[in-house]
Amino acid sequence: MTRMFATAVPGLGPMVGRELGRLPGVVARDSGFDGRSDVVLFEAERGSRSAVVDLGLAEDVFVEVGRTLRSDGDRPGWIAGRVWRPERVQRALSVWAEEVRPLSGAMTFRVIARVLQERSFLRTELRQQVTRAVQRDRPRWRVEDPAQVEVWVIEYAAGRFVVGLRLSDQRMRQHDGRVVEREGALRPTVARAMVALAGEPRGVLLDPCCGSGTILGEALAAGWRVRGLDIDPEAVRAARRNAPGADVRVGDARCLEVADHGVGASVSNLPFGQRYGVQGDPDGWLRSVLGELARVTRPGGRVVLLHPRLPHPVVPGTLRMRDRVRIRLLGLETTIWVYDRTG
Ligand SMILES: C[S@@+](CC[C@H](N)C(=O)[O-])C[C@H]1O[C@@H](n2cnc3c(N)ncnc32)[C@H](O)[C@@H]1O
Repeated sequence: MTRMFATAVPGLGPMVGRELGRLPGVVARDSGFDGRSDVVLFEAERGSRSAVVDLGLAEDVFVEVGRTLRSDGDRPGWIAGRVWRPERVQRALSVWAEEVRPLSGAMTFRVIARVLQERSFLRTELRQQVTRAVQRDRPRWRVEDPAQVEVWVIEYAAGRFVVGLRLSDQRMRQHDGRVVEREGALRPTVARAMVALAGEPRGVLLDPCCGSGTILGEALAAGWRVRGLDIDPEAVRAARRNAPGADVRVGDARCLEVADHGVGASVSNLPFGQRYGVQGDPDGWLRSVLGELARVTRPGGRVVLLHPRLPHPVVPGTLRMRDRVRIRLLGLETTIWVYDRTG
């Protein structure tokens, strides 16, 4: 078994842990939060590593080099010496070489450090000490940014450090990538989580405020037939390019041209705040949109919405709350609301 860990958008860690636990040959062991991301520690058999990367809910995946505790020595030099042990590094590097690219003698590297508190030492001191430990062990490696090897040292729970080599790159968190970028686009890992919360694909998944089509792309990848609407024709053009298999049109989420019970699920990152405001009174807008989503979603289907607040009076009686996942995006608290369409 290889010791590994994954980072995720704050709030999505438990979902990542559950998904990992469902993969054959993978066992989730521990979890935490390093101040920026949720962290899930797990073990994976060699043949299961690629399935971990395909999960799509994690932002990054690492092979573990070592762990230590502040209670064993709360100084950066001590921590660096404890976690960067040549025999364990060698093992982690061979996994890195198998998963990323073959190693050469002279590699470039950089260290990323995250600590939960800076009372005993600064994050930058820990970074320097781990950098020195790497240089002592690998004299031909040189520090560069960006680098071929990224060494992450993170305090994933109070007093607990884990160090790993990053196996993933931008492609993991960007998934297939958007051809056209538009402001306010959702993180693909969050879109993937929302689509997963909509349940098994059955019929059409509708995103009535689709923007550049991130949810549409993830829904297509999950096996749904997909419809998108947006009030802004420029968004519709972007979504058509980003999710070519989806049926995308200009439309208003407050009065959908969709038959009653016409879709299997509705999933959307609703407009909120400055960038994409709503038309008229915000609660009235939400009441109209949720009413329409309850009308068009088949009984037994799900409605999954990202929004910081959906007060009780805007939610129609036919939508029963199933789950609520609180997450942090760009430093702001928001929530994924999951409803069952009853009836
Ligand atoms: C937060 S953005 C969605 C971003 C999208 N998830 C993405 O990844 O690009 C909200 C979208 O709602 C759209 N919108 C605002 N009012 C609408 C309405 N009444 N009907 C449909 N779309 C609307 C905006 O044009 C904007 O594209």
